[in-house]
Amino acid sequence: MSDTPAHVRLDGHALTLVFACARDGAARLIHAGAKLPAGEDLAALDTAGARGRHENQPDVPPVAGLLPEAKHGLMTSPAVVLRRGGARLTTDLRLARWEATHEALTLTLRDEAAQIEAVLHWQIGAGDVVRCHTVLTNHGTAPLEIEQLASLALPVPARFTECTSYAGRWASELHEHRRTIAPDGLHRKSHGGKPGFDGGNWLLLHGPGQEVLGAHLAWSGDFITRLECDSAGAGDGTALLQLAASWQPGEIMLAPGASRATPPALFATADHRSALARAFHAHLRDDVLPVRKDWGPRKVHLNSWEALGFDLSEDKLIALAEDAARLGIERFVLDDGWFGGRRNDQTSLGDWLVSPDVFPNGLGPLIARVHALGMDFGLWVEPEMVSPDSDLYRQHPDWCLHAPGQERRTMRGQLALDMARTEVRTYLFERLDALLRENAIAYLKWDHNRDLFPSRPGQTDGFYALLDRLSAAHPKVEIESCSSGGGRIDFGVLSRVHRVWPSDNNDAIERLRIMRAWSQFLPLDVLGSHVGPSPNPITGRRLAMDFRAKVAIFGHMGVEADPARMTDKERATLAAHIALYKQWRGVLHSGALWRLAHPDPNVTGMMVTHMGRALALVAQTAFSPVFDAAPVRLAGLEPDARYRVTLPEPWPPRARHYLAAPEQWREGLVLSGTALMTQGLALPLTHPETAWLVVLERLPQ
Ligand code: GLA
Repeated sequence: MSDTPAHVRLDGHALTLVFACARDGAARLIHAGAKLPAGEDLAALDTAGARGRHENQPDVPPVAGLLPEAKHGLMTSPAVVLRRGGARLTTDLRLARWEATHEALTLTLRDEAAQIEAVLHWQIGAGDVVRCHTVLTNHGTAPLEIEQLASLALPVPARFTECTSYAGRWASELHEHRRTIAPDGLHRKSHGGKPGFDGGNWLLLHGPGQEVLGAHLAWSGDFITRLECDSAGAGDGTALLQLAASWQPGEIMLAPGASRATPPALFATADHRSALARAFHAHLRDDVLPVRKDWGPRKVHLNSWEALGFDLSEDKLIALAEDAARLGIERFVLDDGWFGGRRNDQTSLGDWLVSPDVFPNGLGPLIARVHALGMDFGLWVEPEMVSPDSDLYRQHPDWCLHAPGQERRTMRGQLALDMARTEVRTYLFERLDALLRENAIAYLKWDHNRDLFPSRPGQTDGFYALLDRLSAAHPKVEIESCSSGGGRIDFGVLSRVHRVWPSDNNDAIERLRIMRAWSQFLPLDVLGSHVGPSPNPITGRRLAMDFRAKVAIFGHMGVEADPARMTDKERATLAAHIALYKQWRGVLHSGALWRLAHPDPNVTGMMVTHMGRALALVAQTAFSPVFDAAPVRLAGLEPDARYRVTLPEPWPPRARHYLAAPEQWREGLVLSGTALMTQGLALPLTHPETAWLVVLERLPQ
């Protein structure tokens, strides 16, 4: 039997976690929230939250603990499922010891009979984001299969009664769906070998007022997200949130003595959604992103995809690069179509050799011209894929994922390589390494354009291994992770790359929603945000350049359109916004993001504050039912400080005529933080496609 529990607390800046640790029993999380005073009586806190036994419960009420097992009458799905010799084990993991520092706790659980050890790691990191993972070791003499092992099994504090999960598709990622948690909870699992467009590896839970808890699994493969209310076993209806990698049967086999760590899962609580966003942003910036402290300013890109598609030639690309440089572009990215026989999307993936048809002299002359124009050079690759019509496939038809004897069904005309095979990774490393050694490439756009079916074990591990090896060999090359847009976005890939491509959809109205959705978790510095063509090739919608450019500033800005097909006026408008982006990226990419509320659901507002300066974007996407939209109330300002407020030009063409006192807006109005946050600014927001930028500069006291 277990002793009286010992109580352990971890403290962040504004967060306390309290655990009750019963030796030979379970570890329970008894508090996750506001920072408690130093002298808090943790035993009393435990008693205050304890429940008596109720009717129709096992005689000894089961304790879920932090790694729930199928034992003692617990009615939630187990967090750990193991097999030996094909048979499922009935495990009984008990707390053997724990070690705590101020912000980290390691709990060691053992099942002596089954010869298994599970070590749970809980750590409060930057932004007060809690990071958890589990390491399982097979101390037995026979192999052990891990069928399931949660990274996090979080007893959700009962004050969280609703959840927001996400759904989406290609070019329309991350739509929010809010519902009550009880009684049926939420079960989600991905199957495509990556998290997918629908953001099932991200979750929000809502408490009283605007309190919110955000959770995420930092894993680029399939996931399991479960939110279950156990109203029978443990009995109090507490929801249990489990986040786990979804492994395939036989994928994780532990030889005697071997261990496996789960990917990390993260969660954070905050008083409102803007604060939660900032917590995740701080965590990503400080604890996840590779070498961020050495990053320079996020360069303005021009990507060739929506300008030229597959219609590539050295001359056309040089002309595009020259037009790009005139706009103020700093990085020229050559997208798909530069290699092998790749003149359309049905061929040549895997043949990572510069196409002599398109580049008779190699990439050298184009790169030299790009450099002479003051830009650096980036290149698109899709390493994990192979086209059936490719030299690679003809030489190695067995290197792709396939079921022996069965038809090999393609998606976008392509198959996926088996990334678990060493020879596949070696081939890809050698090709990519040669490209990077032979050409001055500063940036790779690493794409992944199909689901993995049929899949085989080890795909995500193989992807990480290749990426890690390439980054180690070329530490200065920046990498973007793309998966037909936002199909593979998570903190696992973000610990290895420099930015992600949130969506293939560059339509500014769609993109506004998509950026706001991703920025709940990801800071603007990692979210690619491009000015697309008009009409937009995906939605068919025509949008004014002023609107497209203002929306694109709130991210890592780029252009994905052909300047030669723009009017002079459009080019001038675009260049002016690129200049504004350069002026403000220091704030946008280091500052604190605030989500602005507005009574009109078609008005989106975001602002970023940093060291007394702030930039806001306020955008109307529909025709307003009233002429004068409600004033926009700003956020994140010091109430007593005075700010000079200006509306940087160019102003939105249609709306500028409605602006009262334009001269005063040009000079700047001086207002207190309180006035700006409570009274707000009456910006003309009548017509769709109206976006305003608002600049705030704090004045000396
Ligand atoms: C994917 C990407 C696009 C583009 C194309 C090229 O769809 O998401 O941005 O790179 O591939 O084929």
